[in-house]
Amino acid sequence: MSTTFQLDTATSRAHPTPSPLRRLTIPAIRQRKVDGATAEPVVMLTAYTARQAQLLDEHCDLLLVGDSLGQVIYGLPSSVPVTLDMMAAHGAAVVRGSYHAAVVVDMPFGTYEASPQQAFASASRLLKETGCAAIKLEGGAAMAETVAFLTARGIPVMGHVGLTPQAVNVLGGYNARGRSDAEAQKIVSDAQALDQAGAFAIVIEGVVEPIAIEATRAVSCPTIGIGASAQCDGQVLVTEDMLGMFERVPRFVKRYAEIAQLISSTAASYAAEVRARTFPGIEQTYQPRKS
Ligand code: KIV
Repeated sequence: MSTTFQLDTATSRAHPTPSPLRRLTIPAIRQRKVDGATAEPVVMLTAYTARQAQLLDEHCDLLLVGDSLGQVIYGLPSSVPVTLDMMAAHGAAVVRGSYHAAVVVDMPFGTYEASPQQAFASASRLLKETGCAAIKLEGGAAMAETVAFLTARGIPVMGHVGLTPQAVNVLGGYNARGRSDAEAQKIVSDAQALDQAGAFAIVIEGVVEPIAIEATRAVSCPTIGIGASAQCDGQVLVTEDMLGMFERVPRFVKRYAEIAQLISSTAASYAAEVRARTFPGIEQTYQPRKS
């Protein structure tokens, strides 16, 4: 099966329609976990552009348009400055480039914490403007009322507990969470509060493994680990980290490729050929038609 297809920019439809790839639904993801067990782990990766989504789509159950795009795409120091406009633009691109995975878009800092009503206004804008299936927000028990409010009004919510990067200014850094008893108990009770409020899945990020396992066992919805445990119900990584796009990555990232080196050596070959005037060659230039 081809992994690529053309986008009709007028209709946002993909051609040819990859018919075996029906888009997964949020209830189908939620139902992966039955009686505390997930037979088939949930596969999630971040995506920020249409082409990236096209390439990842058939391999993933969920594509996350993470607010990590602040650092990865825009070179910002953290996810705190990311705006709803950025998330809407990248979310729409990822939905246009995918056909199979359900697309989840992150709610950026400052667009949902004030009240359930504020969260509904932001989340409904993301659903309308991007066509995504669900939104993700950070925070535990403090966000439970908002999760219930959104879910009851037709907006599926993915939760996010443990290391919550939008709270970096309160946490004081990106270190693993759950090392003290109080912190460990809070992570588990935060996950339970989101689960009871109706979250369809919960990201557990940067948490010591026994606590990630305990939280996974304590909730009925799937947990998706990042720097957590293989015993979570699924896993997520930032795609650029996994591809080896950056020299420095967190300890929990496995580099499956060395894309940065490939880009650098490819650019070096191009630059050398331009300087030697060997590019463009005869194949890349237009010649007058012979009459
Ligand atoms: O923003 C993001 O990419 C995320 C994942 C790392 C879970 O929230």
